[in-house]
Amino acid sequence: MKIIMLGAPGAGKGTQAKKIAAKYNIPHISTGDIFRANIKNGTELGKQAKTYMDQGLLVPDELVVDLVVDRVNQEDCKEGYVLDGFPRTIPQAEALDVALEKLGQKIDYAIDVDVPDENIVHRMGGRRACVGCGATYHLEYAPTKVDGICDTCGKELILRDDDKPETVKKRLGVYHEQTQPLIDYYTKAGILTTVDGTIDIEDVFQTIVKILGE
Ligand code: AP5
Ligand code: ZN
Repeated sequence: MKIIMLGAPGAGKGTQAKKIAAKYNIPHISTGDIFRANIKNGTELGKQAKTYMDQGLLVPDELVVDLVVDRVNQEDCKEGYVLDGFPRTIPQAEALDVALEKLGQKIDYAIDVDVPDENIVHRMGGRRACVGCGATYHLEYAPTKVDGICDTCGKELILRDDDKPETVKKRLGVYHEQTQPLIDYYTKAGILTTVDGTIDIEDVFQTIVKILGE
């Protein structure tokens, strides 16, 4: 099963993608996570990506497309995968279609997690990410057992650099301009389903499971 997660920054794509990956036993491919790992490791790609990410801008298509195409071509992606944060522009979606056709693959589902802008800014302010394993929590909606400490690896939690309110507003603008057109793109392709992302994390997941099947 090959799935694309769409939605505004903070809509809960990553939260749901991790749950989907665990339930259906397929890889979770998050371009945001890949860039953050590269930044942490000080790679050339990380240095380039950081200048865009810190401003709330998209990383240029040419730095993203090959990276994802290489990843979906790996052995563990044969049975499927869940793409989170990619594609994010029409050229990325078109490049993905061309590449998948060559690989004899196609996307089965595009799931749009729908959350209004006014909920997003509040959500992002409460998000905390683990410096160790990258797990995501929320002060109110997905709290850790011990304040400020990751449940999984015991490391410290931080506010992501791009989750400051002014950067979140910029990211939302970029989303509406460059990423939202993908909703039309995948509607026309006949594979889009929109789910209400404002309900409880577990309820959003149950809605998605109904779409994908048990
Ligand atoms: P990326 O990491 O992909 O950021 P994003 O799309 O902005 O998405 P987020 O990770 O912020 O949010 P999410 O929807 O995954 O929400 P989450 O589950 O964490 O990308 C970062 C940057 O990298 C981009 O700005 C860009 O610069 C660059 N980049 C990445 N991919 C790119 C590409 N393809 N092309 C170009 N540039 C690219 O949830 C948010 C919070 O809400 C959490 O705290 C969570 O616990 C909580 N929450 C989740 N669901 C619920 C719920 N139902 N109710 C209450 N709280 C909830
Ligand atoms: Zn951790």
